[in-house]
Formats: sequence, C-alpha cells, structure tokens
Amino acid sequence: MAIMQVEQNTALRVHIRWMIRRDMTDVLEIERSGFEFPWFEEDFVRCLRQRNCIGMVAEHEDRVVGFMVYELQKTRLHILNFAVAPEFRRLSVGTQMVRKLIGKLSPQRRTRIVLEVRETNLAAQLFFRENGFRAVSVLRKFYEDSPEDAYLMQFRYRSKPNEPVLHPATGRNRIEFHEHVRNRLTG
Ligand SMILES: CC(C)(COP(=O)(O)OP(=O)(O)OC[C@H]1O[C@@H](n2cnc3c(N)ncnc32)[C@H](O)[C@@H]1OP(=O)(O)O)[C@@H](O)C(=O)NCCC(=O)NCCS
Repeated sequence: MAIMQVEQNTALRVHIRWMIRRDMTDVLEIERSGFEFPWFEEDFVRCLRQRNCIGMVAEHEDRVVGFMVYELQKTRLHILNFAVAPEFRRLSVGTQMVRKLIGKLSPQRRTRIVLEVRETNLAAQLFFRENGFRAVSVLRKFYEDSPEDAYLMQFRYRSKPNEPVLHPATGRNRIEFHEHVRNRLTG
C-alpha cells in the first residue's frame, strides 16, 4: 500500500497521443537534449511519411514532455526513437509510454517490442530493463556515427492469466486447433 502511494505521488500523469506536425519544435528540442547524435527534422519527416511508422507524444498540461517513434512490423513493434525531456525524467513518463506500446501487443499478432540501445547508454538500458526488456544480442559496429556496438533489447508479450493461447495463424486456441486438425485428418 505504501509503495503504491509513493508511485502515485511521484508519477507525472501524461496523455499519450499521436504526434502532429505542430509538435515538431518541442520534439526536436527534446531530441537535441537527449542524444549526442540527434535526428534532424528531415529524419522525423522521412520516417513518419512511411505508412508503418508511428509517432506519439506524451503531453502534460499542454506541454510535450516526451515522444516515441516506432515501426509496425509483421510480428513486432520496433522502437526507432524514444526520449523524455530532461526536466521531466524519473517521473514515470517513459514508463507510461512503454506501457502504451505494450498495450498494443497481442498473442495473435505482434508479440514483441524491440529496440537497439547504444552500449554507452546505461540509463536507457536500465530503464528498458526495469520495464521488462532484456538484451538478446549484441550488434557489432551498428552505428555510422560512432564505433560503438548496440544491444538489441526485447520485450516479449506474456499472456494474461486465463487468456486462451491462440494459434498465430488460425486464431484458434490449442484445443480448437487440435480438434480442427483431427477433423481435417479424419474426414
Ligand atoms: C531513458 C529515458 C527515456 C527514461 O525516461 P524516464 O521518463 O526518465 O523513465 P522513468 O521515470 O519511467 O523510469 C522508470 C525506471 O527506469 C529506471 N531508470 C530510468 N532512468 C534511469 C537512469 N538515468 N539511471 C538509472 N535507472 C533509470 C529506474 O528504475 C526508474 O525508476 P525510478 O525512477 O523509480 O528509480 C530518459 O532518460 C531519456 O529520454 N534519455 C535520453 C534519450 C534516450 O536515451 N532514449 C532511449 C534511446 S534507446
């Protein structure tokens, strides 16, 4: 109970919504203060023009305090960019953005979230680890702008208690699937 209260007191409530053109100034400012090698406006525009690329912002009292850009892939979500404004860090803004993404996973469709994190970005590694991500591989010399490696971090969807496990292709649960196969084989 005491822990719940501390969490509620320190978390900054944010509204997470789609990024629009008007957010770009705030987004670029957060980007510049978050990264040594920031994306420029053209990078955001080029990326968000793709049909499968989505930008979202976290807003607190009409102020953009964080953003994320991710790609919808067939079986996973790929985070391409993710940052919180320095003065709003450690207030669970990042956690709320990750939870929003986790809410988009389902056992039938997209079951994973992945991202590359620079080996020197310990804060981000700890943040994503705290949010259930695990490093699954090392991507050697991944960046063009520096010789460092990246860690590929991944979050895997875990089914909720009592949720039937559905076959990804058929959408049937295991029992229904076996019955379906038996019926096909027997007649
Ligand atoms: C990484 C980042 C997005 C985290 O956002 P945030 O809103 O501050 O994160 P949260 O407040 O939700 O943190 C949740 C937990 O993650 C861990 N964590 C977050 N930042 C941390 C840090 N700098 N050092 C250690 N642990 C950290 C903590 O366990 C934290 O819980 P606590 O504050 O109760 O201790 C933010 O630091 C950031 O924008 N960094 C610069 C951009 C960047 O590196 N983006 C990721 C690219 S891969």
